[in-house]
Amino acid sequence: MAFSGVHRDRGELRIHESVEELSTNLADYIADLSEASVKERGVFAIALSGGSLIGLMGKLCEAPYNKTVDWAKWYIFWADERVVAKNHSDSNYKLAKEGLLSKQVPIVPSHVHSINDSLSAEEAADEYEFDIRQLVKTRMVCVSDISDCPKFDLILLGMGSDGHVASLFPNHSVLDVKNQWVSFITDSPKPPPERITFTLPVINSASIVVVVVTGESKAEAVHLAIDDLGPNCPSLPARMAQPTNGKLVWFLDKPAASKLQSVQFCE
Ligand code: 6PG
Repeated sequence: MAFSGVHRDRGELRIHESVEELSTNLADYIADLSEASVKERGVFAIALSGGSLIGLMGKLCEAPYNKTVDWAKWYIFWADERVVAKNHSDSNYKLAKEGLLSKQVPIVPSHVHSINDSLSAEEAADEYEFDIRQLVKTRMVCVSDISDCPKFDLILLGMGSDGHVASLFPNHSVLDVKNQWVSFITDSPKPPPERITFTLPVINSASIVVVVVTGESKAEAVHLAIDDLGPNCPSLPARMAQPTNGKLVWFLDKPAASKLQSVQFCE
């Protein structure tokens, strides 16, 4: 690893020499969290995002993890989803299904919680929140100790070069939603326009939030999301991801981290 350390306010930084190294360490990290969660409470509730993240998680389906991870104890959710048919190339469900869930790992189909793709964005968000509420009641998903929000064991996020995470885009009113777990948008600047998304209170109630970012095109957003920029700091969604009682961890490659201040790479 090129750098590993803890930022004063913005969580743990893990900066990798290459995407390959990041991918190996990410698989290792998720496998360890899964083991700890299964040991502690018998299940592992993990929320995925779309985009390059799924490809970067691919090593989890290879040896040794395909055999050592207790897949049957996983409960899988999406931190955001595009409101399209499940077999549409834009679907995050399809992406995860083809990249992870159908890769000979024994995930229980009834543990996979995706949106109902026959509904409008608003209805899909409401139904998805209802679904999560049932799992919180039975404690398959924990409840936060400081709010009424679910406390996912792990929420995995990617980040766009505009600093969005999940489907929380800069300056969008969805960033202000406080009284819902899942909200929807119909005007996403990144296509497709209709999406559902975990709200900030849910993201910030997780035990662990991991943000995975690679490539130089995201270096400026990484800088704005992590560095201390004083009072004029732009309110980037990625900067608003700040678990209250949980842990924030950044998995970056060197190009994505190239504009970070005060990070000294190990030679
Ligand atoms: C989505 C996402 C979104 C994604 C980022 C990063 O469904 O569009 O969940 O938040 O994670 O846009 O995507 P890339 O890693 O592909 O740039």
